[in-house]
Amino acid sequence: MSSGVNKLFIGTNLKMYKDICQTTMYLQGLAELTRDIARDEMCLFVIPSFLSLPVATQCGGDSIQIGAQNMFWEDSGQFTGEVSPLMLKEVGIRLIEIGHSERRQHFGETDLSVNKKVLAGLKHGFTTLVCVGETGEERELGVAVERIRQQVKIAFHGTSREDAARTWVAYEPVWAIGVNGIPAKAEYANEIHRVIRDVIMEIFQENGQKVPVLYGGSVNMGNAEELICQPEIDGLFIGRAAWEADEFNKLIRKVLPLWRQKTGL
Ligand code: PGA
Repeated sequence: MSSGVNKLFIGTNLKMYKDICQTTMYLQGLAELTRDIARDEMCLFVIPSFLSLPVATQCGGDSIQIGAQNMFWEDSGQFTGEVSPLMLKEVGIRLIEIGHSERRQHFGETDLSVNKKVLAGLKHGFTTLVCVGETGEERELGVAVERIRQQVKIAFHGTSREDAARTWVAYEPVWAIGVNGIPAKAEYANEIHRVIRDVIMEIFQENGQKVPVLYGGSVNMGNAEELICQPEIDGLFIGRAAWEADEFNKLIRKVLPLWRQKTGL
């Protein structure tokens, strides 16, 4: 085991799918199906749309951690359409996802705005899940490693070593995400995860060892096992393949024994 992460991190971002009622049913189903799995060996999280958050935090209970898909960095102000850290805290949110590639691609999220959100999130005590990933073009140009290093370094600029305890990172190559995505080969994902771990260790020193680094991008029943067996991959961040509670439960049960084997826990 190469990192100091002692739980399987596995979760899903529901993107702009599922209304309040569907999210409620999904979470209730998932909680019930996974009830027998000890949470001290698995951190299960779901990131629904904003409107579902108040009810989702109640459905998730202690067994499913609920996160928000985005957050603005100011506490309040003239920022029409934005959601502040205080508003998220008020509804019981403790986890925020920052810098998903769809936010970068469609909503002008930059490395610098990601950094502002990360700093605000950490300041307010949230666990902050930062998504990074190179585009297909960057990969073809041979600058994937440089791009990833840059994204991680800028995202965590100005943080302290103690912040590592509330930091998660997801490696999600842009070319691997969504219906047109091509899943990354497990070895390639592992290589980039090693790069991410190195940068995290530079930033957080020895505390970086405990930061979970998750892989995301077309994870499915066919490739999840190979991915989780990679020494540098601490968990999976899943989209489409996790949106039916039943299917997600099957996927979890497929990878959990392999994760135990790999880590010896
Ligand atoms: P996907 O989504 O698994 O449907 O490719 C992954 C993501 O966007 O996090």
